[in-house]
Amino acid sequence: MALLNKALVALIGILLAVYFYSGKEEFEPSMLKGKKAIVTGASSGIGEQMAYHLAKMGAHVLITARTEDKLKKVVEKCKKLGAASVYYIPGSMDNMTFAKKIVHEAERLFGGLDMLILNHIGFTYFNFFDGDVDHIRQLLEINFLSYATMTVEALPMLKASGGNIVVVSSFAGKIGLPLTVPYSTTKFALDGFFSSLRMEFYQQKVNVSITLCVLSYIDTDTALSMVSNVVQQPAAPKEECAFEIIKGGVLRKREVYYQYQATKIPMLLRDWAPEFLEYLVLKNYDVEGLSKTKQ
Ligand SMILES: NC(=O)c1ccc[n+]([C@@H]2O[C@H](COP(=O)([O-])OP(=O)(O)OC[C@H]3O[C@@H](n4cnc5c(N)ncnc54)[C@H](OP(=O)(O)O)[C@@H]3O)[C@@H](O)[C@H]2O)c1
Ligand SMILES: *[C@@H]1O[C@H](CO)[C@@H](O)[C@H](O)[C@H]1NC(C)=O
Ligand SMILES: *[C@@H]1O[C@H](CO)[C@@H](O)[C@H](O)[C@H]1NC(C)=O
Repeated sequence: MALLNKALVALIGILLAVYFYSGKEEFEPSMLKGKKAIVTGASSGIGEQMAYHLAKMGAHVLITARTEDKLKKVVEKCKKLGAASVYYIPGSMDNMTFAKKIVHEAERLFGGLDMLILNHIGFTYFNFFDGDVDHIRQLLEINFLSYATMTVEALPMLKASGGNIVVVSSFAGKIGLPLTVPYSTTKFALDGFFSSLRMEFYQQKVNVSITLCVLSYIDTDTALSMVSNVVQQPAAPKEECAFEIIKGGVLRKREVYYQYQATKIPMLLRDWAPEFLEYLVLKNYDVEGLSKTKQ
C-alpha cells in the first residue's frame, strides 16, 4: 500500500508539473487577422456568433446553411464588424456534393483555407426514441458524413496552411443523454472519427490541428425552445461559447469544454462512477415537461 501511495503522489506531482510548465500560448484576437475560415450552420445560434467574432477579428469568412435570407443578414453584419471579406452559399448538408462544393468555393474565393469550423446539425426531435432508424441514417448524413466529407476535401489546403479543423460537438457526444438518441449517436460518431484521425495526424506528422468542442446547454433559440421545459439547468451564453470555440481552435487545443464545470467535471465521473453520473444527469430532467414542448 505504501508503495502504491508513493507512486500515486509521484504521478500526481508529475501531472501537475506538466500542466503548469507546458508552454501555454496566450490567445490574441490578431491571430485571426487575415485568416481564411469556413463556418457551417452560420445562419443562427452559435455558428452565427462565430461568424461575428471572426469578422471582428478581421478574418475572411465563408458561411453556409440552408436559409438564404438569414445568411444575407449575417453577411451584412459581418461586413459592418470588419471582416476582411465575407461570402455565403446556401444549401443543405444532406447533399455531399454540396458539402464538397463549399470547400471548392473557399479555394476559389480565398485561394486557401486556415480554419474549417464544422457546426451545423440537422433537425431532430427531443423526446423518447421513436424507433425510426431511417431518421438516424438521415441525421448521420448531415451531422457526421458531411463533416467527414468536408474534412477530406479541405485537407490539402489545411496541410498547406498548417490549419485547424474545429468540430462542434456536445456533452451528448461524450455521455449518452436521454431524449436525444439519434443526436447523441451522431455526436459520438464525430468523436470516433476525429479522435482517431488526430492520432494518425501525429503518426504521419500532419500539421493540422483537430479541436473537438464539448458543449453544455447553450442559450440558442433552437435549444431553448426544445429543452427548456424539461432540462432544469441554466443555459450558457452563445456569444461567449462561440468565442471559446474559436480560441480553442486557433490555439490548436485537442478539446474545448464549455461550460467547463458542466462538461469537464462530469467527465471525471464518467469512467469511475458512471451510475452516480447517470443519477445526477437524470435529476436534471423533468420528463413531465415533454407534454408542454411543441415537437
Ligand atoms: N445549443 C445547445 O444547447 C448546444 C449544446 C451542445 C452542442 N450544441 C452544438 O452546437 C452547434 C450549433 O447549435 P445551435 O444551438 O447554434 O443550433 P441552431 O441555432 O439551430 O443552428 C443550426 C444551424 O445549422 C443549420 N442547418 C440546419 N439543418 C441544416 C442542413 N440540413 N444543412 C445545412 N445546415 C443546416 C441551420 O440553418 P438553416 O436552418 O438555415 O439550414 C443553423 O444555421 C451544433 O453542432 C450543436 O449540436 C449546441
Ligand atoms: C446537391 O448539391 C449540388 C451542388 O450544390 C447541386 O448541384 C445539386 O442539385 C444538389 N442535389 C440535390 C438533390 O439537391
Ligand atoms: C504547424 O503549423 C503552425 C501554424 O501554421 C505553425 O505555427 C507550427 O510551427 C507548425 N508546426 C510544425 C511542426 O511545422
